[in-house]
Amino acid sequence: MFSRQVNESSRLCLTVPQFADDLFALTQRNREYLQAWLPWVDKVKTPQDTRDFIIEQLSKFVLSEALHACIFYDGLLAGALAYNCIDLQNRSGHIGYWLGQDFQGKGIMTECVKDLIRVGQDYYQLERFEIRCAAKNARSRAIPERLGFEMEGTIRRAEKVHDHWYDHIVYGKLVA
Ligand SMILES: CC(C)(COP(=O)(O)OP(=O)(O)OC[C@H]1O[C@@H](n2cnc3c(N)ncnc32)[C@H](O)[C@@H]1OP(=O)(O)O)[C@@H](O)C(=O)NCCC(=O)NCCS
Repeated sequence: MFSRQVNESSRLCLTVPQFADDLFALTQRNREYLQAWLPWVDKVKTPQDTRDFIIEQLSKFVLSEALHACIFYDGLLAGALAYNCIDLQNRSGHIGYWLGQDFQGKGIMTECVKDLIRVGQDYYQLERFEIRCAAKNARSRAIPERLGFEMEGTIRRAEKVHDHWYDHIVYGKLVA
């Protein structure tokens, strides 16, 4: 199983069906906080929904089209990090992430994204990394900014979350 120690406290593990109950429980505990930014949260109503999502992600992983990983912090499931899309033809990967609220503010995600970029380079020969963040999501934007991504533009009305339209800022990093 794909598993990497990122630093003393954080580990990335390929998301497998065995994690479904814990991943659903983390989603459930953080439903209100995640709903503000992540439209998929409303669709996840039972552990089976999480299991179905994991199986779908694994089928994409097999085809090198995506890679969904769970983040464990001191052994506890803390969140998730993914290449939601891997484009081998164009050597690019689109990164997405979320953490349980209790795990914010410790630098976990910044370190894990840095490590996922290494995975992209070493295993998929990716040269372009992209992160899209809602313009108003300051915590999310701070991650690519900390990691030296460049702001490449704004997609207006990119996403509707509940009744709010969000613009997205596109961040890109080129590693030749
Ligand atoms: C986006 C999200 C993952 C960011 O979480 P985060 O905890 O702010 O990010 P990190 O884990 O990288 O931690 C950074 C924080 O830890 C602090 N920190 C401590 N040690 C650190 C270290 N070694 N390296 C970097 N930051 C460190 C930073 O100062 C920062 O805190 P601050 O914002 O109070 O200054 C989280 O807010 C989240 O899941 N939000 C809901 C879902 C979401 O918006 N997903 C993104 C959709 S695009």
